Amino acid sequence: TATLSFAGTTAEFPIRPAVQGASSIDLSTLTRQTGLTGLDYGFVNTASTQSKITYIDGEEGILRYRGYPIEQLAEHSTYLEVAWLLIYGELPTADQLGEFDEKIRRHTLLHEDLKRFFSALPHTAHPMAVLSSAVAALSTYYEDSSDPHDLDHVELTTVRLLAKLPVIAAYAHKKSIGQAFLYPDNSLDFVENFLRLNFGNMAEPYSIDPTLAKALDRLLILHEDHEQNASTSTVRLVGSTGANLYASISAGIQALSGPLHGGANEAVLQMLGRIRDSGEGVRRFVERVKNKEDGVKLMGFGHRVYKNYDPRAKIVKESADAVLESLGVNDPLLDLAKELEQIALEDDYFKERRLYPNVDFYTGVIYKAMGFPTRMFTVLFAIGRLPGWIAHWREMNLDPQTKIGRPQQLYTGAPERRHPS
Ligand code: MLT
Repeated sequence: TATLSFAGTTAEFPIRPAVQGASSIDLSTLTRQTGLTGLDYGFVNTASTQSKITYIDGEEGILRYRGYPIEQLAEHSTYLEVAWLLIYGELPTADQLGEFDEKIRRHTLLHEDLKRFFSALPHTAHPMAVLSSAVAALSTYYEDSSDPHDLDHVELTTVRLLAKLPVIAAYAHKKSIGQAFLYPDNSLDFVENFLRLNFGNMAEPYSIDPTLAKALDRLLILHEDHEQNASTSTVRLVGSTGANLYASISAGIQALSGPLHGGANEAVLQMLGRIRDSGEGVRRFVERVKNKEDGVKLMGFGHRVYKNYDPRAKIVKESADAVLESLGVNDPLLDLAKELEQIALEDDYFKERRLYPNVDFYTGVIYKAMGFPTRMFTVLFAIGRLPGWIAHWREMNLDPQTKIGRPQQLYTGAPERRHPS
């Protein structure tokens, strides 16, 4: 065992060799190695660390939402069903799901004034920036019904966010391509409505492709939660201050926009495009990655948690061929991605470092085939992740034990010094 002290608290816990002698202390590493949580150490604020929502075993490549394996949910459930599971802890009955779906359909409209908000932004604006700003602006319309400590308000805000985020996202897309916004069609289900808002136009009826809708629903399920990653911790931390759900989700969207987080699928597609355009070939590219030439990186490989194949990537990869075939798209970038994966997985350099494709590796190719511009990829991640963010915010916020979050700092600077004067 070892004794560690932070901020006046001292705790003892077992340390395995990998962390012995570590000069800096990473609580998430310790948690993985010791099985204890930050609360067991007595160090960490209650805005983070403990949760009943999602289980990940990075060594084995296992992901479960509320105990259900991701593979089973992706196969048998819908996005809204999984959203209910994450938020309320159980799979919904048919009646519960029907009522939830109905409520969400009733809240899809945006206030007309909020629609004008989009015209104030440049058409070159990144859709993630538009999304985050518009979600923050939602709280100005619902100020009297967004009290974070009133359960009725929290329920209403949950439904409003699930209903309106896809509409805002589609408007961000339409704005970027200079097309008119459509009103939602509430006879359509969640994903169908979203597809129509993105790809329909005023002049003609939009016909839904069920294969496309099913594939998108599945991709959204895969992104619904991933324990306390950067954006989810942001949502929890902001929420722990008593800020409402709109403010917290808006902050989470900003955190997700970074290329190391949700922006990674965009970066994968750019990397594949560069390999194709350079004509250098995948093997040469892999050599350059290994030699760290020109800072070139293999995007979409490796994960902070998974030291095994990301279970989500496996499902996405399985879908990729089927989706592209059903859409009649033959994308050489998918072939490049597969070749890259195969070469990297056979190479000792990547094997030793346990670098496997993560969820971002194949999603970009599928989103592109569906017709989404590259800058919308992270927005799709945000729609997928919304139920997880809401579930975490509620878990944290509705727990009477929660205090304002305050990540512990370990001071490593100079000791007390005398001013030279
Ligand atoms: C995610 O799904 O949130 C990403 O893989 C990032 C993470 O888990 O840290």
